[in-house]
Amino acid sequence: MTKKIVIAIDGFSSCGKSTFAKAIAKRLNYLYIDSGAMYRAVTLEFLRSGLIKDGKVDTSRVDEILKNINISFSYDSDRKEYLTTLNGEVVESEIRSPEVANNVSLVAAIPEVRTRLVELQRELGKEKGIVMDGRDIGTVVFPNAELKIFMTADPLVRAQRRLKELQAKGVDISLDEVLSNIQERDYLDQNREVAPLRKADDAVILDNTNMTVDDQMNWVENLVKSVTM
Ligand code: DC
Repeated sequence: MTKKIVIAIDGFSSCGKSTFAKAIAKRLNYLYIDSGAMYRAVTLEFLRSGLIKDGKVDTSRVDEILKNINISFSYDSDRKEYLTTLNGEVVESEIRSPEVANNVSLVAAIPEVRTRLVELQRELGKEKGIVMDGRDIGTVVFPNAELKIFMTADPLVRAQRRLKELQAKGVDISLDEVLSNIQERDYLDQNREVAPLRKADDAVILDNTNMTVDDQMNWVENLVKSVTM
């Protein structure tokens, strides 16, 4: 019988973290939690409550809203995946809107938001058997995770992958624009004051510039075996 562990996956945006994390969770029959979706759900609630105006958050009402917010994940057996739920409503597509995307960095930088979400994330992981991806999972949320992976890839390759996804959705954007967007996000993620993106000292680096998802799964399989056997 193999023991259940916590797998923490951090890394830059558009590195394929969620695809990789989901595939591991499926293979191991673990729960997959997208922590970025939780920051997006809080952002959606702040927008709906009129807390964000002109790129600023009305901090006087942050505590009150956080106290009453309920974020969970409901399993959709048709899609075979977990959907983000905010106060009982599935908001999986709403949290991917440009309005949420444009405001989420602002919300993710608020210390009270991070404290509340880290608390929820630890609660979700207390039984182990979980794969969680984000920016501070191995450093802050689960510093004792049995397996920590830090994902990275060449920014140009990430931009090309992201461009493909956007074009498939019918978005008209150039490679240069996508690349500068990625570079700006990398800078913000690494340089914010609270919980900046950084590799945990004991994390294993996965540079997937030239790797397929299958290559990545083969790579991770031995790692998982070494910590669960
Ligand atoms: O991974 P994503 O693009 O869905 O993340 C959305 C935002 O949330 C992004 O600005 C980074 C932030 N985030 C964070 O600060 N900490 C996490 N653990 C996950 C995401």
